[in-house]
Amino acid sequence: MGIKAVVFDAYGTLYDVQSVADVTEDAFPGYGGIITQVWRIKQLEYTWLRSLMRRYEDFSVVTRDSLAYTLRLLGLDYDQATFAGIIDKYRHLDLYADAIETLAALKPRKLAILSNGSPDMLNALVVNTGLDRMLDATISVDANKIFKPAPEAYRPIEEVLCIPPHEMLFISANPWDACGAKAFGLNVAWIERVIPEAMALACVESETVAPLTMFKALRTQMDELGVMPDHRLHALSELPKVLSQP
Ligand code: LAC
Repeated sequence: MGIKAVVFDAYGTLYDVQSVADVTEDAFPGYGGIITQVWRIKQLEYTWLRSLMRRYEDFSVVTRDSLAYTLRLLGLDYDQATFAGIIDKYRHLDLYADAIETLAALKPRKLAILSNGSPDMLNALVVNTGLDRMLDATISVDANKIFKPAPEAYRPIEEVLCIPPHEMLFISANPWDACGAKAFGLNVAWIERVIPEAMALACVESETVAPLTMFKALRTQMDELGVMPDHRLHALSELPKVLSQP
């Protein structure tokens, strides 16, 4: 494959958004699971709603608003320090275990992030986790003031890296993002971390579906959007092999 640049989604792909569960549980014992899942589901929903309403506010605002919604929904009182402590985790999210070794193995290709995150959030996150030393660019959709999967959200990659879309591979574990990138014209690899058979079983094996199971059912399975990624992998660590194929 003549791939000159590999561009990664951030939240859910290189970084584990589930890693906020410790801080949400510490702040509100017994509620960590439900807060974590409703927060992320609403956060994404607000990106889509704001894009459709043409009332863009950056991802730091959307992330705060969706957390406020979640805590209000659950009837949880909080002070500003508690709220700020939870939000701060977005600057220190855990990397997936295979992220660093995968990025290292993909060099000397250009490596970048394209994320919904605001420049401020993303820059803090990549510095705090050491990825700033491995990435050629950290690109935010904020340049065009619209969220993924709008085509305009993917456009800044080409402008920043000066590489045409057909020479780039975009990586996302978010199915709707993989579809959006494919519709835009990028080569796309989808990271399918949750296998469908396990998902189906988890949804029916008990009367109550746990918040994390519901999140996985809604946000980790391939969407029906009329486009499909070019590659379907189960972990970031499979990427070097895919890229070494002729
Ligand atoms: C991002 C969203 C998809 O990082 O999580 O852009």
